[in-house]
Amino acid sequence: MRRSAGIAPPKGKLGVLTVGMGAVATTFMAGVDLVRRKKAKPIGSLTQLGTIRLGKRTDGRSPSIQEFVPLEKLENIVFGGWDIFPDTAYEAAKNAAVLGPEHLAEVKKFLSKIRPMKAAFDQNYVKKLSGTHVKKGRTKYDLAMQIRDDIHKFQKKNHVSRTVVIWCGSTEIFLKPHAVYATPEKFVAAMKENHPAIAPSMLYAWAAITSGVPFANGAPNLTVDIPALTELARQHGVPICGKDFKTGQTLMKTILAPGFKARLLGMNGWFSTNILGNRDGEVLDDPESFKTKEESKLGVLEYILQPKLYPDLYGKIHHKVRINYYPPRGDNKEGWDNIDIFGWLGYPMQIKVDFLCRDSILAAPIVLDLVLFLDLAKRAGMRGIQEWLSFYFKSPMCAPELYPEHDLFIQSMKLKNTLRWMMGEDLITHLGQEYYD
Ligand SMILES: NC(=O)c1ccc[n+]([C@@H]2O[C@H](COP(=O)([O-])OP(=O)(O)OC[C@H]3O[C@@H](n4cnc5c(N)ncnc54)[C@H](O)[C@@H]3O)[C@@H](O)[C@H]2O)c1
Repeated sequence: MRRSAGIAPPKGKLGVLTVGMGAVATTFMAGVDLVRRKKAKPIGSLTQLGTIRLGKRTDGRSPSIQEFVPLEKLENIVFGGWDIFPDTAYEAAKNAAVLGPEHLAEVKKFLSKIRPMKAAFDQNYVKKLSGTHVKKGRTKYDLAMQIRDDIHKFQKKNHVSRTVVIWCGSTEIFLKPHAVYATPEKFVAAMKENHPAIAPSMLYAWAAITSGVPFANGAPNLTVDIPALTELARQHGVPICGKDFKTGQTLMKTILAPGFKARLLGMNGWFSTNILGNRDGEVLDDPESFKTKEESKLGVLEYILQPKLYPDLYGKIHHKVRINYYPPRGDNKEGWDNIDIFGWLGYPMQIKVDFLCRDSILAAPIVLDLVLFLDLAKRAGMRGIQEWLSFYFKSPMCAPELYPEHDLFIQSMKLKNTLRWMMGEDLITHLGQEYYD
């Protein structure tokens, strides 16, 4: 099926509201400012540096993604957000210690002007955090209405024509699917009676969707991944996506595992451990927040390797994931992987990966791409779950009858084919027989 190119052009300014102004959010904001002032390059961002092949290989058409689809320009983005601490984005960035002193000095003026709005927060959902910059309300519904008011005030004050909200807040405790998530009506009733199944992140998602604002979830919390909110997003014509930015270790996993599977190499086990010392690491030191993250990290191999289809190769895998909070390491995480594989006649081999990464440096371009692609999707009239953005997530959202696609290369193909489809171009199948006929 071909879609005709009926995408509204990006008129006016785009407002970006981050829920949480910690390491990831401030590194993203600082990066956008540095890039638009030509002080740095947007490495890692598909929307800024990617190209897309169109037509046959012999056609020689590979425009940049920016030229191909009508994305908003970085110059037209206005930032805002919420946090449980009143620090400006500059103070928060300094605290997060991701950026070096030269970069911090360069963005000081810009980030100092970004002050968070008061957060909807409840310590029951993030045990290791407590803050003062928090909204008061009789019910969760009251808080959600206040968030809606914040969004509308931000839009008015900054004269933005469109807005996107993205959760860059801490990981909340693990929540199981619950009956109150079944429909938008049950969800509203649950907010009104302060039901414990309604986490603060869900209030932001509800407020964004009912304001017609796209919402992305960068953490592993359920948040917008519940039937009530996916249905509401469809009703309001709002695109949504999540969960959990795919950045360090899981990125490596979804690069490597499809390769082993493609070559039918067997696997006995995959042991992953992380050492990190930022606030995210501290929050994940709580077993209930870790459980949310663990579930998100563990799902990946099962879906890529398909043990039911390949019992001889992947029927007995031991997959372990550990996160160790170790303050001296700060945001510069170390992700260690030991992979036990086996080959021809069952002979065992080992692979060791030691990724000395920088968490927020890997996450910032993802935030930028998600914001720009969600805004594009909204202008293209797309609504509900945006599976083509799975590329960016550890636990991609998908329709209830589907399983998530985790293989990075399939995800990348899906994303680019969606852009071709949006613009009425032929999809690329990589068949290639026509070159030899
Ligand atoms: N950096 C990565 O590579 C990466 C990858 C995947 C997911 N994530 C997730 O992204 C999120 C942000 O990571 P980070 O490193 O910036 O963490 P961080 O701790 O530096 O920032 C999170 C911020 O959210 C705020 N916050 C918490 N609850 C809030 C609420 N209810 N409302 C408003 N603000 C709230 C906190 O005060 C904090 O400032 C975490 O959930 C993390 O697990 C990060």
